[in-house]
Amino acid sequence: MDTKPVFHGSDIEKICSYYNLKKEDIVKFGANVNPLGLSPRASQAIASHIELLSSYPDRDYTSLRNTISRYCNIPADFILPGNGSSELISLLIQERSPKHTLILGPTYSEYSRELSFSGSTQEYYHLQESMDFEPDIPDLCRKLEQGYDFLILCNPNNPTSSAISKKDLRDLIHFCEEKDIFVMIDETYVEFAPDISAITAVPLTQEFTNLIVLRGVSKFFAAPGMRLGYGITGNKKFLEKMREKQTPWSLNSIGAFAGEIMLQDEEYIQQTRQLILSERDRMIDELKNISTYKVYPAYANFILLKIQKDGLTSYDVFEACIRQGLMIRDCSSFQCLEGEFVRFCIMMPEDNSRLVNVLKSL
Ligand SMILES: Cc1ncc(COP(=O)(O)O)c(C=O)c1O
Repeated sequence: MDTKPVFHGSDIEKICSYYNLKKEDIVKFGANVNPLGLSPRASQAIASHIELLSSYPDRDYTSLRNTISRYCNIPADFILPGNGSSELISLLIQERSPKHTLILGPTYSEYSRELSFSGSTQEYYHLQESMDFEPDIPDLCRKLEQGYDFLILCNPNNPTSSAISKKDLRDLIHFCEEKDIFVMIDETYVEFAPDISAITAVPLTQEFTNLIVLRGVSKFFAAPGMRLGYGITGNKKFLEKMREKQTPWSLNSIGAFAGEIMLQDEEYIQQTRQLILSERDRMIDELKNISTYKVYPAYANFILLKIQKDGLTSYDVFEACIRQGLMIRDCSSFQCLEGEFVRFCIMMPEDNSRLVNVLKSL
């Protein structure tokens, strides 16, 4: 009988009680959150503006939308803030009510969960491990000809950390426009990419109306508890319909206020990018010559490893790490991922070195 427990990325309480660990002693390599924590400017501003909780936020989030507009270089009326990108995924699927959806997988499981509450059929287009999980665009277009009306992709993708170039995205969205297929692109991890402008679809919202891009502050700005996400689309009618269905004041007043401060904290943004980009390269360099693992190119703040040593499973690697207080993600619960895989995000340099040493020892 298989008695191994199955843990998900956010199962920290369960993991602590199973391995008899203290929560504060664990390094969270599975959460994909910036290890620098909140922007210091944002935390100070939150502390001194706590009385904002006694008023409703601006129902149109005008000031926040203007700040996001400058941050993303896109008109403010293309932007819909929400309660994390999770609310927007749910809202847009409800509003779109697709009939046949294609999801590029393996990917974040929430798309499939939300779709299961809609009337849509859902199918995965399998990204190939042999192609480092990058899609073959002509092949994907042939698949899309089979009657889909909705396409979901995550760029950079969770858990593969692979990315699609802006040029390929333009070809794909153009093809979808001709076939009347609406495209949702989740860019939760895009700010960690070596060159953001080479992969973001945000400028394409000015060319195509069959497109919505989702972003948020949970990962790059280390603020998952704030629940600030935003959708970007040039389809004004669709944006208006989503807004009408949205719960009023869905983003709280502290989130709306502090969100603006975070997005303007240039020093924090630079520090984060310096840390993640240099540590990601260092970790990849250290692991790529070890035959136990295959390492894939990484565009997000996490790295996917395939375990290629006979008899060593993803659970064995997870367990060896957690026994040292290093919590990585065992990827066995991801759909479309055949084989033994683990994923871990970039943390502070000394923690990253500890993790690399454990991985090397297996
Ligand atoms: C790809 C992806 N999209 C969205 C989310 C959730 O984002 P939010 O906190 O903005 O709802 C996650 C969280 O892990 C994620 O990995």
